Amino acid sequence: TDLDAFITGLPKAELHLHIEGSLEPEQMFEFARRNGVTIPFASVDEVRAAYDFSNLQDFLDIYYAGADVLRTEEDFRDLALAYFDRAAADGVVHAEIFFDPQTHTHRGVPFGVVANGLLAGMAEAEKRHGLTAKLILCFLRHLDEADAFRTLEQAQPWLDQIAGVGLDSSELGHPPSKFARVFAAAAAMGLKRVAHAGEEGPPDYVHEALDLLGVDRLDHGNRSLEDPALVARLARSGMTLTVCPLSNVKLCNVASIDVHPIDRMLRLGLRATVNSDDPAYFGGYVGDNYRAIAKGRELDRDDLVTLARNSFLGSFLSDDEVAGHL
Ligand code: HPA
Ligand code: ZN
Repeated sequence: TDLDAFITGLPKAELHLHIEGSLEPEQMFEFARRNGVTIPFASVDEVRAAYDFSNLQDFLDIYYAGADVLRTEEDFRDLALAYFDRAAADGVVHAEIFFDPQTHTHRGVPFGVVANGLLAGMAEAEKRHGLTAKLILCFLRHLDEADAFRTLEQAQPWLDQIAGVGLDSSELGHPPSKFARVFAAAAAMGLKRVAHAGEEGPPDYVHEALDLLGVDRLDHGNRSLEDPALVARLARSGMTLTVCPLSNVKLCNVASIDVHPIDRMLRLGLRATVNSDDPAYFGGYVGDNYRAIAKGRELDRDDLVTLARNSFLGSFLSDDEVAGHL
């Protein structure tokens, strides 16, 4: 349709994408086979049927299990390249992608295998599609501070190829305050900082991400809407929120796409963006997320242009690079 073509043709940046969450079931089987890894599913259909989540933890359990098929540099390269092929087809011209090193180092896959593989995929995608890409190292918040510090230490040889650090995994019970010192160390190394906050956790966690982690960008942030003073603060400071509509519905944080607050966020003056989070698990890539809210919330084309524009404004590209995309 016209709307589909409009959305695809809209140049956009993706700012909230977990590369491990782009592992499609077909690829899971392929990597399992070539690495001789056993997976607890008989078919692709069986895998997809298991993607029925009632909350974040439900999803994370399956997501970490799926990542077990990722073993070699080639796996990480192929995974990244497959994501960028899909993203480019959706009109993504810049992507800042998360990776979870601890998911892999804890299974005996060295940090360098993960980083070199992803960087190889990014370089190939830049050549193939003329897009740009950055890498964000996420700490798993269900693990402790010392583990995060070890991970930051392992990242040292790759630091000039890593744009920033993030915080993901189980939010409830693992407030940003737990990682204040790790984020201060990352900041001292010149790294940008982002954090998942207010996905399932309360508005207080968003305050902590701002005050204790000094985040440059907020991932999700939905529950900020419960706190008017916080909304005012986010709007006033021009803080970017990386909103993930299909993820919110799949993880039961929003009842359905027709009641998603994305339009309310825009009306409140928040710099909201639209992203896919874990597209292989949540039923769609970034274009699908734009289409879902365009239809579900009847956003007009100006709103879609605003969302795409926000994605560049909220990116870690230089001012000149951003200007070139607007
Ligand atoms: N939230 C927290 N951790 C995650 C997510 C998410 O949506 N996706 C992958 N890890
Ligand atoms: Zn996420």
